[in-house]
Amino acid sequence: MNRAPLVARKMLQYPFARAYSSVVLSSLGVAAAVASAATSTVDGPHTRPVVKTAIPGPRSKALLEEMGKSLSTSQVAFFTDYEQSCGNYMVDADGNVLLDLLTQIGSLPLGYNHPAVMAAVSSSSALTPLVTRPSLAMFPPSSWPELVQSTLLPLAPRGLSEVTLMMCGTCANENAFKAAFINYMDVKREKPLTPDSEEYSSTMLNQPPGSPKLSILSFMGGFHGRALGTLSCTHSKPIHKLDIPAFDWPVALFPRLQYPLDQFVRENEMEEKRCLAEVEEKMEKAAKAGEPVAAIIIEPIQAEGGDNHASPNFFKGVQSIAKKHGASFIVDEVQTGGGATGITWAHESWGLTEPPDVVTFAKKMIVAGYYTTLDKRPKEGYRIFNTWMGDPIRLVMLKAVAAEIRSKDLLSQFRESGDVLLSGLRELEECYPFLVHRARGQGPFCAIDCHTTNQRDTVISTLRSKGFNLGGCGEVGIRFRPALVFEPSHASLFLNAFEDTLAELSR
Ligand SMILES: Cc1ncc(COP(=O)(O)O)c(C=O)c1O
Repeated sequence: MNRAPLVARKMLQYPFARAYSSVVLSSLGVAAAVASAATSTVDGPHTRPVVKTAIPGPRSKALLEEMGKSLSTSQVAFFTDYEQSCGNYMVDADGNVLLDLLTQIGSLPLGYNHPAVMAAVSSSSALTPLVTRPSLAMFPPSSWPELVQSTLLPLAPRGLSEVTLMMCGTCANENAFKAAFINYMDVKREKPLTPDSEEYSSTMLNQPPGSPKLSILSFMGGFHGRALGTLSCTHSKPIHKLDIPAFDWPVALFPRLQYPLDQFVRENEMEEKRCLAEVEEKMEKAAKAGEPVAAIIIEPIQAEGGDNHASPNFFKGVQSIAKKHGASFIVDEVQTGGGATGITWAHESWGLTEPPDVVTFAKKMIVAGYYTTLDKRPKEGYRIFNTWMGDPIRLVMLKAVAAEIRSKDLLSQFRESGDVLLSGLRELEECYPFLVHRARGQGPFCAIDCHTTNQRDTVISTLRSKGFNLGGCGEVGIRFRPALVFEPSHASLFLNAFEDTLAELSR
């Protein structure tokens, strides 16, 4: 591949660049960073990637064939030995040790087999709900109110004191939609319902007024799940939606910003203004068409759709449009919540004067569900309901995770790691602009783009062959979703390998 002159110049400086992880670290004041090996205590015996075979190796390939006899394997990357995996390192079925920057699609808050979580689930009180899983909304154990109050309420976003537990992120969003619809109709309904109200008979036939014509506004590039309601609000990749009927609900453009954000303030402001005007227009159009918007759903960072960011002003604008139209403002923090951006809830960096109506969560929170305000609770039972309504064992785990985050001040360290990672990515995009560009992020929740999907897939598979596990986002993005125990030294270790990979690919 031909190199651009800028890159050739940078390449000559490589003795400096090869050690840039320690340069970046020291410029950030991170003491004693080790560029060649991570020294985390949670990583158990693992200190660096160790690759013995191709990945997937022979054992993974044999298992893939076995699995293919009864299950779909089209998404399997390799098989994992979860017992041997520790902290930031995953061990595959062939004994290869990989530094994991994806951590089960961003869903492992403390990495693999963290001792505090292992201890929490080893107690006898944790064993009982594992064996006898309760139907929590109907027959909660006597420990349940205290467990919820001591675990979920201290983590609640400011201003939201009501929590509803579900099974996964999709399920949380689906039920947040239902809560928004119920709330919208409660406010709009003129006559109180009586047992013979037309609503009851019509809803059994999926007809108004019992099944009203209402909609949810979502954003192009957003991802909110793959069940039927959420899929209508998911617009990241067509293959997720193909052949599946969808609600014809309004979709607005999410701002397409230029990075770094602080260098394109004016351009980005204009783009956000344009997108807000479109939201307003779609809300009005939906109301005129007789299918008013009952809720707007938005991610703080469009995570599956390519790590697209927007400014606090944009989100404030969306919230105020929702409010003006009597629609709920739902913030989907399934991927950004639980500390993933270096703060517990990404939306808390927007400086909202009042909280969102609903905040949904899953992944790093271990449990899934949504927070809202007490006045959004449906008055009747069984309207938001399923068999389990959460899982006590997951809450026991979350309690241990939250205690570990607090006692070790993990989020401060995580933000530091994010600074190291993102500044390293920015250096690399300067050195290799023909391979990578648009480095962006909030804390360690960051991404960088290649120029084509093929190029991106090559970079990811080359890094995997060196023992670094990463994921893609959008068409050309590489995303980083490390665990909260990811340290600056891990970032440094990865950046060195990334730099080597880009140098090799540019030869
Ligand atoms: C922002 C967002 N919302 C919802 C979901 C769906 O969550 P789940 O896969 O747990 O159903 C995801 C999954 O990646 C997500 O990133």
